[in-house]
Amino acid sequence: MTVPRHFLFLIASTREPGHMGNTEWLARQAAASLPADTVQTWVHLARAGIPEFVDQRHTLGSYLMPEAGSVMRQLLDQTLACTDLVLVAPVYWFSFPSTLKAYLDHWSAWLRVPGLDFKAQMSQKRLWLITTNGDRAKAQPMIDSTAMCAKFLDMPLAGVLWGKGGAPEAVKGDAAAVEKARELFFEEHESLSQESAVSIAPQSLITAKELGDAGERHACELLRVRGYEATLLPPNSRTYDIRVRRGGVEFFVSVKASREKQHVRLGARQSVLGLASGNFVFAFLPLPKQQLEDLIAGQYVLLILPAELARNDALSIHDQYWMTKQKDPNIFSVMVKGYGTHHRAMWPQWLAYKDAWNLLPEA
Ligand SMILES: Cc1cc2nc3c(=O)[nH]c(=O)nc-3n(C[C@H](O)[C@H](O)[C@H](O)COP(=O)(O)O)c2cc1C
Repeated sequence: MTVPRHFLFLIASTREPGHMGNTEWLARQAAASLPADTVQTWVHLARAGIPEFVDQRHTLGSYLMPEAGSVMRQLLDQTLACTDLVLVAPVYWFSFPSTLKAYLDHWSAWLRVPGLDFKAQMSQKRLWLITTNGDRAKAQPMIDSTAMCAKFLDMPLAGVLWGKGGAPEAVKGDAAAVEKARELFFEEHESLSQESAVSIAPQSLITAKELGDAGERHACELLRVRGYEATLLPPNSRTYDIRVRRGGVEFFVSVKASREKQHVRLGARQSVLGLASGNFVFAFLPLPKQQLEDLIAGQYVLLILPAELARNDALSIHDQYWMTKQKDPNIFSVMVKGYGTHHRAMWPQWLAYKDAWNLLPEA
């Protein structure tokens, strides 16, 4: 049995009580996808009454454990109790709001409480950042700070989500951010290194859903050109998107499309288990270092993968990865990637299925 995750959401916005900020709203979209047994603790740092941090590193040299019942003891206990620490922080002056900074400054004390072993405990948790402001580029210094803080404590920075904020509710209009929020805690993120946090891709013009729909239509056209009868299955059909027929032959195709990255996101584990011999996965990928905005010949790579190969390869990586982390593999999206230590070896084998039309059954 896996231990349920415990998410601590630290809200750093200083909006007045009763006025939910963009960043908190976005965080709540992400949290809504968490399994029911996930513990969620939400703290408004601005209302917590965090005392000023006193730097006694070079006088006393150490700090007492915060007193039982004090604000800082409660925050320390909440911090240590979580498996996932989520900074829910708008950009203030290109940086962390002072509410969050005040909390983080106390880490310098907690690092020096004898016997607490704060760093070792923190290294077992995952750090996330959810942020909003008017302009993605201006959020970069704060994202970099987060990555450096994570590195200092040996914490994996598991994911960064940025949304276009501004006045309250503005972020609701950022469809890409809202969509990413739903997946944020489920994707098997590589721990973002400082470098990769810096190079988070700019916003795409097309949403993942739009590209997915375009991929299904385009796959149908490509099949029809080759003499197959291709019919889209009803939306939300499990595992497959297209029924293909020619003469007495029938098979099914699952279509995937990636906008920015060299990866194939196969989706929920239950759906992947449905990939069966005789059927196929069509995976549209962007050309290396480009974004896929439209499915125009020559501007994408199409992998035509036998369904059972896709299922077996992907689940062997996925299950092993999450088992070693003692996490339930069913709650994470199944992917195969051209990057990341435990995926890279498989990727060239998958690329060999580029335009593998010859594998489709003839009538
Ligand atoms: C004190 C303060 C400083 C801000 N500084 C910046 C800034 O440096 N760059 C920026 O793009 N937006 C800045 N903003 C705008 C906020 O980042 C933006 O409105 C954000 O979506 C607010 O998040 P919230 O709705 O969750 O409170 C600032 C807002 C405040 C209140």
